[in-house]
Amino acid sequence: MKLFSGNSNQPLAEAIAAYLNVPLGKCDVRRFADMEIFVEIHENVRGEDAFVLQSTAFPANDHLMELLIMIDALRRASARRITAVVPYFGYARQDRKPGPRTPISAKLVANLITRAGADRVLTLDLHAGQIQGFFDIPTDNLFAAPVMIRDIKEKNNIKKTSVVSPDVGGVVRARGLAKRIGVPLAIIDKRRDRPGQSEVMNIVGEVKGMSCILVDDIVDSGGTLCNAADALLEKGAKDVSAYITHGVLSGGAVARITSSSLKTLVITDSIRATEAVRVSQTIRVLSIAPLMGEAIGRTAREESVSSLFHS
Ligand code: R5P
Repeated sequence: MKLFSGNSNQPLAEAIAAYLNVPLGKCDVRRFADMEIFVEIHENVRGEDAFVLQSTAFPANDHLMELLIMIDALRRASARRITAVVPYFGYARQDRKPGPRTPISAKLVANLITRAGADRVLTLDLHAGQIQGFFDIPTDNLFAAPVMIRDIKEKNNIKKTSVVSPDVGGVVRARGLAKRIGVPLAIIDKRRDRPGQSEVMNIVGEVKGMSCILVDDIVDSGGTLCNAADALLEKGAKDVSAYITHGVLSGGAVARITSSSLKTLVITDSIRATEAVRVSQTIRVLSIAPLMGEAIGRTAREESVSSLFHS
């Protein structure tokens, strides 16, 4: 097998390569003067099982294009099988038509990856599980839950803990985690009865006197998280932390989170941490390199990937 990486998350690629005990494949992913992307694979891949690691995070369009061009280069170099390893699958939030004449960009991106020449996809905590079905090639959607559960059990007194979904859309994810830790589940139901009226946060479940753990797939502006933390504290929660797989953290999100009522935000390294994240006292990063590395190794050996999640 050969493991190649685009420019989106070199530290994760190096950690995965170290886990698998293989060197990262030699390639150049550069820009022409006009910023077009140029890829050159510097080693023979004929007949190889090739894995291309790239999170389509900020700048999403550049990183997506790098991934597509790398897949194209490998296909034209006669790789036997190409797996797109996409720890953070961007454009996933546009997974249905919220109104007339709007796109389903998650499906478009799935089509692009497939048409570029990928034979398989390996990803992590897709925004919605059904996005797997947007690909007509085998797609493994890994879960960061085991990594998070281990950390939650180590760092928290789970006797007085509730897992909380910050919105109705995340209930399945939060319920799964609450069940596996053996703690109660609470749900924040956001409602705006009439346009122009401010949003009302109703909390379903037990939070008074509890340490609350918000669970979600993405933290982007941080708005969902900070508002949810305030609402929980207002209802008598003892403190609020959050475990979120993908730290998109756009714009002033890190500053917003650092000055919020959140005790801690724990994310994974599915997206490369910015300097602001690295120095933040509120944000901690867990590595998914062993999980992704193990899944890549099992795919290469044609072993079960789902059994990674049987407890
Ligand atoms: C939405 O459905 C997602 O699961 C996240 O809740 C959302 O993307 C978070 O965005 P933000 O941090 O900008 O509120």
